[in-house]
Amino acid sequence: MTKQISPAAGLDRHVGSARSRVDGPAKVTGLAKYAGEFAAPDLVHGYIVTSTIARGRITAIDSSAAEAVPGVIKVLTHENREKTAEKAKAYADMVAPPGTPLRPLHDANVLFSGQPVALVLAEDFETARHAAALVRVRYAAEAPETDLAALLPKAYDPPVKRDGIKPPPKAWGDADTAFGAAPIRVEREYRIADEHHNPMEPHASTVVVEPDGTYTVYDKIQGVANSLMYLQGAFGLKDDEVRVLNPYFGGGFGGGLRPQFQLFLAMLAARDLKRSVRVTLARDQMWSFTYRPGYIQTVTLGADEGGALQALKHHVVHGTSRYEDYQENGVNWSGVLYGCDNVTLSYNLVQRDTATPGDMRAPGAVSGMFGLESAMDELAYATGQDPIALRLVNYTDRDPVEDKPFGSKALKACFAQGAERFGWSRRDPKPRSMRDGRELVGWGVATGIWEALMMPSSVRAVLTSDGKLELGNSTGDLGTGTYTILTQIGADALGLPMEDVTTKLGDTKLAEAPVAGGSWTAASSGTAAMKACRNIASQVFVLARGMENSPLANVDFERVVFTGGRIAVAGEPERGVSITEAMRAGGFDRIEATEKAGPDTDFAKQYECYTHSAIFAEVKVDEELGQVRVTRVVSAIAAGKILNPKTARSQIVGATVMGIGSALHEESMLDHRLGRYMNRNFGEYHVPAHADIHDLDVIFVEEEDKANPLGVKGVGEIGIVGTAAAIANAVFHATGKRVRELPITVDKLL
Ligand code: MOS
Repeated sequence: MTKQISPAAGLDRHVGSARSRVDGPAKVTGLAKYAGEFAAPDLVHGYIVTSTIARGRITAIDSSAAEAVPGVIKVLTHENREKTAEKAKAYADMVAPPGTPLRPLHDANVLFSGQPVALVLAEDFETARHAAALVRVRYAAEAPETDLAALLPKAYDPPVKRDGIKPPPKAWGDADTAFGAAPIRVEREYRIADEHHNPMEPHASTVVVEPDGTYTVYDKIQGVANSLMYLQGAFGLKDDEVRVLNPYFGGGFGGGLRPQFQLFLAMLAARDLKRSVRVTLARDQMWSFTYRPGYIQTVTLGADEGGALQALKHHVVHGTSRYEDYQENGVNWSGVLYGCDNVTLSYNLVQRDTATPGDMRAPGAVSGMFGLESAMDELAYATGQDPIALRLVNYTDRDPVEDKPFGSKALKACFAQGAERFGWSRRDPKPRSMRDGRELVGWGVATGIWEALMMPSSVRAVLTSDGKLELGNSTGDLGTGTYTILTQIGADALGLPMEDVTTKLGDTKLAEAPVAGGSWTAASSGTAAMKACRNIASQVFVLARGMENSPLANVDFERVVFTGGRIAVAGEPERGVSITEAMRAGGFDRIEATEKAGPDTDFAKQYECYTHSAIFAEVKVDEELGQVRVTRVVSAIAAGKILNPKTARSQIVGATVMGIGSALHEESMLDHRLGRYMNRNFGEYHVPAHADIHDLDVIFVEEEDKANPLGVKGVGEIGIVGTAAAIANAVFHATGKRVRELPITVDKLL
């Protein structure tokens, strides 16, 4: 086990304890404003008209009826709009895949159904929406191609790798020969449907034109720096001409990582009309961009009679758009999780006439691990082994891809503690062997894995002589708890009550930080906050030591602690001075520091860093109705130090709900004749409701990691990985029926 670096004495009063969200009261009382709620004098409202065809050209747009409606100001189309900085990279954003990002209202080409083709601008929202229905668009339509299965012959290797996404590692050993020779073999195809993010808050942007001609933009985005970069590229705006804010967020799940077309359109209209403009998407328009792409994947496992893997192959194909090569780590996890000498991982894309897919909570891992962990369950039955025993036979303490040890990997503790809590030892492995009244009962298990990442992030800390601390950077709090954990870190680092610490996020005027994603925010912004506060602490210390007759004279910084608003010698609480006294004595009203944190490259040279989980699911299946209920889930999570067990638990619970959604409910259905998602509403796109959620239990197993001084790995995504496989495995145990295609709907069980 690795030894944890002590970040700062006293970083344990609030850090590590359950604390309610500091932004909670604002969010539940309506004080928190969202991007579509900011007002401005003379605000114009935009409503987007979207294409009804998936492929072809616009031949004519007749907006005369719309423009005749009282209150309508203008209808923008590709024919009358401002030509912006339309270079190839003009619309690039921080997380854009290779290709040319969508250029809204750029020309007559239609690339997917639901693409914006006009923007109606009116004095109020209802008028804009009504008039949008009157815009007549004529098309020269071509037959769309959206059926992933039918397009498999056109699958290709992604030509350029996406930033931050690793290509599948080179094959090692000889998987085909080893599979041919293996006594136990499993080779199966698994599928998962397209899923759309659908946070409660739809995408919205409000562009406020300030009296001096600059723009203040409120945009639904997981990191305002990304919207700033996009706007500057698309409109050639300088740094001081635009400021982007997004202090609060109504759910993201990755759907807010990239600036979406409503931002471009709101800015386009604001520049055209020289008035402030808001563009809000309707729920059905949330199917017009970013989604988790459905997979067709094959997992091939060869093992000896004891279950030890001799061959492992994982091949994934998923869709992308015509204009970008979206990529995710779909198969890489399969090379990291188990020890095997013969491994081949491969990954292909298919171009479809849809919008570009995007990152959706644990992108790649949710879909890929559904395949691998279902196949492992099939292997467990093929070898007559307990599924946990099989995973332990193939356990590895080294990352086989990088041939390095893990910084930490408490997955065995996840299995042990999860099994204990769930009661796994009472499981009769025989399918259809357990019942509760008229329902069949099934218990399934699966493993989850996600990268523990850090991204260069800055935090600015300001301490004032009244003993108040302010922390801030530009990243977003998606509802994840970032406001709260930064406040806890600041309070502990300077020995202040949490009430005296304020955290500000989501403003490009604050210290620079990336989008909140990849589960990297706690580690990255948390470490930066800790460093900035330590910097301030050292400055306060110098002032305190320099006071006349200072009780800290001749004391080293390492020997003092900050507690109760005071700096004192460790173990001698009386021997110290208050922060206020020290700052006033030194003549300072405020002390500030900005610090940056990023990945520890020395550590990364020696170790690989992942979070892990063991997910245990119980289902009850009504055989006559084909209805599946997930009655219990125990999620045992190894994610390093947990900064706040309350917000962290909420992350895992929320992710589990989403995992249940992907297992049983979520499916964006394409009509391939029209190339159009048909169930574009909450009535027909099903997500779990309260009645679908029963007993969710979360265990954080102890794990010490030294990838960063806080020992944090992040918990935003690990909770969803493995959940669908655990449920599908439980359904098999209950019914004897192996469903290899998500979601597991009634029709697949009857
Ligand atoms: Mo997450 S899919 O990186 O917002």
